[in-house]
Amino acid sequence: MRHLLDTRTLSRDDAIALLDIAEDMAAVQDREVKKLPTLRGKTVVNLFFEDSTRTRISFEAAAKRLSADVINFSAKGSSVSKGESLKDTAQTLQAMGADGVVIRHPSSGAPQLLATSGWIDAGVVNAGDGTHEHPTQALLDAFTIRRRLHGTASRGRDLDGVRGVIVGDILHSRVARSNVWLLATLGAHVTLVAPPTLLPVSTAAWPAEITYDLDAALAQKPDVVMMLRVQAERMQGAFFPNSREYARTWGLDDARFAQVADTTMVMHPGPMNRGLEIAARVADSPQSTVREQVANGVSVRMAALYLLLSGERSEA
Ligand code: CP
Repeated sequence: MRHLLDTRTLSRDDAIALLDIAEDMAAVQDREVKKLPTLRGKTVVNLFFEDSTRTRISFEAAAKRLSADVINFSAKGSSVSKGESLKDTAQTLQAMGADGVVIRHPSSGAPQLLATSGWIDAGVVNAGDGTHEHPTQALLDAFTIRRRLHGTASRGRDLDGVRGVIVGDILHSRVARSNVWLLATLGAHVTLVAPPTLLPVSTAAWPAEITYDLDAALAQKPDVVMMLRVQAERMQGAFFPNSREYARTWGLDDARFAQVADTTMVMHPGPMNRGLEIAARVADSPQSTVREQVANGVSVRMAALYLLLSGERSEA
C-alpha cells in the first residue's frame, strides 16, 4: 500500500489485512514494553491544517510505538498564515526527510493532491479532508465493531450481516462517508438517519438506506448506532433545526436509549456535543464504545503506518 487516502477504493482484502495487522499491534499495546523497532530511522510528519485532538495524538503515539521519529506541524503559528502554499509547505517537510505524511486539511482532496502531484515522495495518509473522507476513523470503527462482536476470534472476519445506523450531520461528515464505504465493503448493512437539510444529495449513490426517522431506525434493533457530531463550524448556509428540536428528534437521549437493545453498540467518533446528539449518560454507558474507539485508533494507525512505511514501497 503506497498511500491511504480513502475507504471508497479500499478493497475488502486490504481492509481485512489492515484490521488483522491492527490486532497484532493491539497485542503489542498489552505488553509491558509497547514499542516495536519496525520504523526505526523513518520520519513521520503530522501535517495538520485543522484542529484535532484524537487523530493527531493517536498518529503521534502510533509512529513513536513503531520507533519512528515524529515531526508535528500545525498550520496555526506556521508560515501558512503568511500565505505559504501546500506545495511549498510539503516540500519543506520533505527536505527535512519525511518518509510519511499524515495530513488533515479543510479542503476535500488535499491528501490526494499531495499523493499524486509528484511534489513529495512520502507515503500519504489522509487524517480527514474537508467533508470528503477520514479513512483511519472508519477503520478504527470497523476494528472496534469486529472486536466487540468477535473478541480475540476477530482475525480474518468481515462485518457480514452487521446492521449499522449512522445518525446526524451526514452533510458535513467525512466520518460518515468513510464508514458508509468501508462498512458496505465489509458486508454490513448501513442506514443513514438525518434531518433532510443535513443529508447531501450524493447519498442517492451511496450503498446505504436513508430515513429521517430515528425511532423507526432504532426499532429495527441495529447492532451499531453511530452518532455524529453536529458540525456547527461548517454549518454556513445549511438549515439547522434549533438545538432543542435537533436533540428531541435526532439525538440519542435517555428516553430513546432506553428503547435500544442492550446488545447495541453506541459509537461516536468524537469530539461529542453532550446533550445535543448524545446524552451524557448514554456516552458514558457500558454500551458506549467511545473510549475503546480512541484506544483502538492507536493500533489501527500503527497498522496503517506499518503498511505504508515498512519494507519496499509498492506502486499500488
Ligand atoms: N475523531 C476525530 O477525528 O477527532 P479529532 O478531530 O479530535 O481528531
